[in-house]
This record gives sequence, structure tokens and C-alpha cells, in this order.
Amino acid sequence: MEWSRIVRTGSGQPLEIDDNGIARNARFSGALGQADELKTRELAAAPFLGSSQRALREANRHHSWGVMRERARKVLQEIVGSKAPSESVLVDLGSGFGWQWRDLALEYARVQFVLVDFSLTNLLVCRSLMPFREYPNVLCVHADLVDLPLEDATADYCWSVQVLQHLPRDKRYRGYREIKRVLKPGGRLYLAWVRPVPLVRLAYALLRKTYLERGSTANGMFLQRFNEDTWRELCEQFDDVRLTYSETLFHPDLHWAPRSRVAAWLDQCLGRTPLARLLARQAEVWGASLSRCAPALSCFCL
Ligand SMILES: C[S@@+](CC[C@H](N)C(=O)[O-])C[C@H]1O[C@@H](n2cnc3c(N)ncnc32)[C@H](O)[C@@H]1O
Repeated sequence: MEWSRIVRTGSGQPLEIDDNGIARNARFSGALGQADELKTRELAAAPFLGSSQRALREANRHHSWGVMRERARKVLQEIVGSKAPSESVLVDLGSGFGWQWRDLALEYARVQFVLVDFSLTNLLVCRSLMPFREYPNVLCVHADLVDLPLEDATADYCWSVQVLQHLPRDKRYRGYREIKRVLKPGGRLYLAWVRPVPLVRLAYALLRKTYLERGSTANGMFLQRFNEDTWRELCEQFDDVRLTYSETLFHPDLHWAPRSRVAAWLDQCLGRTPLARLLARQAEVWGASLSRCAPALSCFCL
């Protein structure tokens, strides 16, 4: 599908795409209620503009490469398995460097990837990892996720990793509204959040350090870890909602971030056991656009 049929301005005009493969939203006037976060993200990304290898290393200090690549592949298999791949669109909200899609976007060349972030510097780093000429099926979109310059009902899948946790409640609800607007009927979603990890909380208590569950971080960003309210909120918003856990052995806040394939495999195995609730750093919500009332029982398993 032509990019101009996917991205558009508020008045319905196609969005301008620069030679670098970044679509700019002229309506984007700053990050509503997240000014400190935007500033922090821009500063954090700037040192990686010159080196894609260093950018990849940096991303993998914060996310488990093996675990998240497996998730990304699972989602792509689901997308192409469900229909003619030439029509498939995946939207990544708060994509950061978009590192999960490198190589996979070549392998799944008939899926169109729309990577949205409000930090232009993040998107520039992303384009250095996936240049537009080599990845014509990947488009970066500079926008706030609560005001997406995307056509209604364009996405087969919305993917968002550790982003909604940084949106204050009101803004999060605007984000949900946008996700529902851009998802096709029957479209699916994957939302990952950091959650409070009982064992890490204990370690912090022993070290007499503050373990932030909700509030502002030292650099002024908002953080809301996943909890029962979040889960309830998502059950109300989406259909067919399911919860899983991941990053059981990946705890950068304890400077414990193993990178080997064996560690990633073990991490995933543990994620499927009851130990996950004690160890997992990430709660993952899988769901679908709301087509009917979500059954109350789907919310029982937090
Ligand atoms: C913790 S990072 C996660 C990056 C990426 N999802 C990953 O897995 O590596 C959060 C990202 O969300 C972006 N972000 C936060 N709030 C946003 C908003 N309202 N609209 C668009 N992007 C946002 C930030 O710029 C940052 O790139």
C-alpha cells in the first residue's frame, strides 16, 4: 500500500515524507504533558546518532534482545499467517530506535512498519539502523501517540513496548482511543509495561534505596508500573485480553542484563512458570480491538 494511503494530516492530506523516510506531523507542537520526558529522550539519543552499533548496544542495555526479538517474530508470524501479507501494517507506538525490527523488516518485506515516536532524534537513530533505501517498507513518523497522523483502520497490529507506562492517566486514555481508531476491525495489539518485581523491590529495601512504582523519576519523567488498575483499565478498553510475563532474568536496575541466547531461552522458560510473578520485569498485554464487551473473567489472572 502507498504510504500516502496510511499517513495523513489532520485535514486528510497525505503527510510529507522526507528523503530519510521520516514523516513529519505539522500538527505536532510538543509533547502534551510530557515535556521533561521528551527533553530527556532527545538528550539520551543524541550520542548514538553517529554509530548504529553503539545504538544497538545501548538499546540492549535496557531491553532483552533475545526475549523481545522472539516476541517481535511471533507477532509478525501472526500477522502474515492471518491474511495476504501484502496488506499488512504494523504500527509501533513509541518505537525509540526501532531496533527490534532491524533484519526482521527485511525478512518480512511485505509487512509495512510504521514506527511512531515523539523524539525526532530517536527516529534519526532508527533510520541509521534501517536506512529508507534498504528498508522501504519501514516508515518513521514523528508524532505524539495521542494524535496519530494515520488513517482510521489501517493497522493489523499495534505494538508498544514500555511506552504507556510513561503517560499520565488522562493521556493514556487518549492513547487507547487512538489505538482503537487506527486498528482494523479484528486488529490485534501487544503492549509491554515494566511491573514491580518483588525480588528487586526487596533488594532495593535491603540496600535502602527507593524503588519507584509510581511518580516522577530523577530526570522528571513520569512512571506508572503495571498494576491491577492498569490491568482493569486495559480489560475495559480492549477485547480478548491476555497477560503474560517476560524479562524474568533481565534486571538492568540491578545491573543484571545477560545477553546470551541461552539466557534469553531460560528467561522465556521462566516466564511461563509461577516464578514469573516473582521475577518478571515486564507485563505483556495481548488483545484485540474492542468488538464486544470483554468477559469479566478475562481479568482474573494478574
Ligand atoms: C522506554 S522507551 C521504549 C523504546 C522502544 N519501544 C523499545 O522497545 O526500545 C519509550 C519510548 O517512547 C517514546 N514516547 C514516550 N511518550 C511518547 C508519546 N506520547 N508519543 C510518542 N512517543 C512517545 C519515547 O520517545 C521513547 O522512545
